[in-house]
Amino acid sequence: MEEKKTIIRLSHVCKSFEDGVTVVDDFNLDVKEGEFITILGPSGCGKTTTLRMIAGFELPTSGEITLNGEDISMLPPYKRPVNTVFQHYALFPHLDVYDNVAFGLKLKKIPVEVTNRKGEKVIKYKHLDAKTIDAKVSRALQIVDLDEMEDRDVSTLSGGQQQRVAIARAIVNEPKVLLLDEPLSALDHKMRKDMQLELKDMHKKLGITFFYVTHDQEEALTMSDRIIVMKRGLIQQVGTPEDIYNEPVNAFVADFIGESNIYNGTMVGKLKVRFINAVWDAIDDFPLNEKVDIVVRPEDVIIGAPGKGNVDGEISSKIFKGVHYEYIVHVGKNEVLCRDTKDHQVGSKVSLSVEKENIQIMHKELTENEYVDAWINNANQVVIGEDPFPVDVTKLVPGSSLDEQGYVIDAKANKKYDFKDADVVATIGLDKIVLSDDLDSGETKGTIINSVWIGDHYQYIIRTDDDEDFVVNSQYSWNENDLVAIHVEPTDIAIRLKKDLENYEVA
Ligand SMILES: Nc1ncnc2c1ncn2[C@@H]1O[C@H](COP(=O)(O)OP(=O)(O)OP(=O)(O)O)[C@@H](O)[C@H]1O
Ligand SMILES: [Mg+2]
Repeated sequence: MEEKKTIIRLSHVCKSFEDGVTVVDDFNLDVKEGEFITILGPSGCGKTTTLRMIAGFELPTSGEITLNGEDISMLPPYKRPVNTVFQHYALFPHLDVYDNVAFGLKLKKIPVEVTNRKGEKVIKYKHLDAKTIDAKVSRALQIVDLDEMEDRDVSTLSGGQQQRVAIARAIVNEPKVLLLDEPLSALDHKMRKDMQLELKDMHKKLGITFFYVTHDQEEALTMSDRIIVMKRGLIQQVGTPEDIYNEPVNAFVADFIGESNIYNGTMVGKLKVRFINAVWDAIDDFPLNEKVDIVVRPEDVIIGAPGKGNVDGEISSKIFKGVHYEYIVHVGKNEVLCRDTKDHQVGSKVSLSVEKENIQIMHKELTENEYVDAWINNANQVVIGEDPFPVDVTKLVPGSSLDEQGYVIDAKANKKYDFKDADVVATIGLDKIVLSDDLDSGETKGTIINSVWIGDHYQYIIRTDDDEDFVVNSQYSWNENDLVAIHVEPTDIAIRLKKDLENYEVA
């Protein structure tokens, strides 16, 4: 197969808005001519923002976007050969189908060469003539299968038909790239399924590049040549639907694509991994004692007679799904989602096994320590587990300060807040925790339960008496089972409120 030409390239594209939060972070991607490419990710991960930068409605904060090798980062939208079908499309309710589609064309001017009165050839910008517009609109309506409905008022159309008008309106300009931002989100399930196939068909007929955005994994898997999975502005994985389904690079992707069982695991020997209270054979090699994420697809779990598999459990729920049953099997406190065409009774004891090639093992992605059950005590300290850590509570209100009684005063609005007992999420970077042998030198202490050498530093897991874990990157060497003090500078603890700020306002 010949290598297709790159039509759009995003290089190191970043976007942050006025509030300084980076919503698209170092986005790099080559889109091939004629490709159907999809960005998939949860709400707020930056999908629309990425699309808007390609369309030109938003400018990148840094980085470059090229189209056929030419930098278009700074071109206004109407000069880019791309068209967008928006997440919330708006048709003109007072115009019929034909006029909705023809609207843009009627305003458009194209360069034509004419001879002026001095006999010189000059370029003039002229409107398209009625015949040309007619031909273009007819073709667009044919592609979306609405050619019989030209004269219908758009307000009398069904949701799916309106959606098609919106698509016709975008393709009538013959763009090189069609950007589609969740175009089917307003439709019911059945109509969505139909439209997915129709869109795929349109893509084939038009032969242009489709850049699609959705948060629906099934939609992405059925329609796309390639999928980009995004999380909080960062690309997690780019690949074909099969790649992404079968070989997710981390637990986030696995969880987002299809139903999965995801567990914490530990490597306990060569090609041996321990999870859900059992040791399993594996085909991926990771260092001994490394903490890993395990993914097992429900369809890969084999249910057998008790004692005959790798681990025993008990069926705790059962749903009939047409071709198969879906079971939840409890193994200790772990749940395993399984599919089986055989009928088992709820409450029955079974065994579970999984072929070793169906156990996906991935590096654990630890970027920070997160404590979701932290709270602020009456000394404005953050309590993690049972241990108070000094922290800067004025960070909860930008630009604020503390008064003598410990209230936080908002400098601008002069509002007063009381954060005592406030529930917060505290996060601490792996590099921000200082360990020491001097057990009185920290806010708490704990035992090193795991240590791994990662390329150029150690990563330790330290567990405190109240069962909180601190994951720490360090240059210094300690042994497992050593007792160490844990210290964090107040400025290195990030806190965010679980409830809205106004809940803490005092008169
Ligand atoms: N003009 C703006 N000013 C400030 N923040 C913005 C602006 N536009 C978007 N954001 C923020 O950027 C983040 C990404 O938004 P975006 O619309 O790209 O998400 P999305 O992935 O399309 O989500 P959804 O699936 O809900 O449509 C969000 O946190 C959003 O609040
Ligand atoms: Mg969006």
